[in-house]
Amino acid sequence: MSKLWAGRTEAETAQLADDFNSSISFDSRMAKQDITGSMAHAAMLGAKGIITQDEADTLIDGLHTILDDLTSGALHIDPAAEDIHMFVEQVLTQRLGDVGKKLHTARSRNDQVALDFRMYLRDEIDELTALTKTLTSVVCDKAEEYKAAIMPGYTHLQRAQPITFGHQLMAYAMMLLRDLGRLSDCRRRLNVSPIGCCALAGTTYDTDRELEAEKLGFDGICLNSIDGVSDRDFAAELCAALSIEMMHLSRFAEELILWSSWEFQFIELPDAYTTGSSIMPQKKNPDMAELVRGKTGRVYGDLMGILTVLKGLPLAYNKDMQEDKEGVFDACDTAKMCLEDAPRHEGEDRQNAQGRLRGFH
Ligand code: ARG
Repeated sequence: MSKLWAGRTEAETAQLADDFNSSISFDSRMAKQDITGSMAHAAMLGAKGIITQDEADTLIDGLHTILDDLTSGALHIDPAAEDIHMFVEQVLTQRLGDVGKKLHTARSRNDQVALDFRMYLRDEIDELTALTKTLTSVVCDKAEEYKAAIMPGYTHLQRAQPITFGHQLMAYAMMLLRDLGRLSDCRRRLNVSPIGCCALAGTTYDTDRELEAEKLGFDGICLNSIDGVSDRDFAAELCAALSIEMMHLSRFAEELILWSSWEFQFIELPDAYTTGSSIMPQKKNPDMAELVRGKTGRVYGDLMGILTVLKGLPLAYNKDMQEDKEGVFDACDTAKMCLEDAPRHEGEDRQNAQGRLRGFH
């Protein structure tokens, strides 16, 4: 099939090249953001008279139907499409005819992908923030519950001075509060709209970038169009914030592992979040805490990945930038999984914990 971008090329690309070039297997995650962004774009084109109001309404209705059909399962993502942007435009044009092609007026996939990625990560930050808040309040509740439970405080992993379990737990609450601050800083810097930067140099169409940004919940627009399409700081910054947060979860996990060992015997982890051994019946292994500690390495790897993809790139867009997504998606998925798991660790059997902690009164 001839490509939407076929201009100076005549021969078909090789199948191997098509497969290598394709990002649909991972960027279809951004389908909702792609379609929402396109609705705002069509509305702006209509409002500015670049296309007629009728055409804008037709495009918006068509996009609504595509979103509904994807949600209901009536429409399946075509794995042979090059990317999610091409797929949506292809379906729209198949359904609406030539008017579908007008959607791409005054934009390029370069500003479109930057827009989708920012919107997707903005939603992720909101979820990560909610999960971090839940964990913080679970930790605070536990600290309140054990505010009088005396335990040894450590330096050099040697018993140092008596502290309370509540005091120790609140140290983790402080880390999580800083993590929340980092997520919110990252969201603030991320929340400017690149749409309208087009390929790199803007457009001669009389667009309204502010209107489009406002419709999509952005606080403003990227002021330099070359930067707008080549900036992925927000993705690197989110990975950095998540790496630090994972480092906190990992230190917490390490303490849970130590405290639940036979040597410490400070806490007992709940059966539902430990594993046993058929040959060593005395075992209660803290697998979930160990996995939180282990998965921290993945997120650090994701941070190194995005920084390395970006480090040698000349301005503006380069296809290398298609490699910006999978690692960042993985960092978000991993951190969310660990944040969901961590409060359950904290929800240890109260009787057990009190029994154990009483030993230090
Ligand atoms: N799939 C591409 C990506 O994720 C979209 C942008 C393509 N732009 C281009 N000029 N080929 O980066």
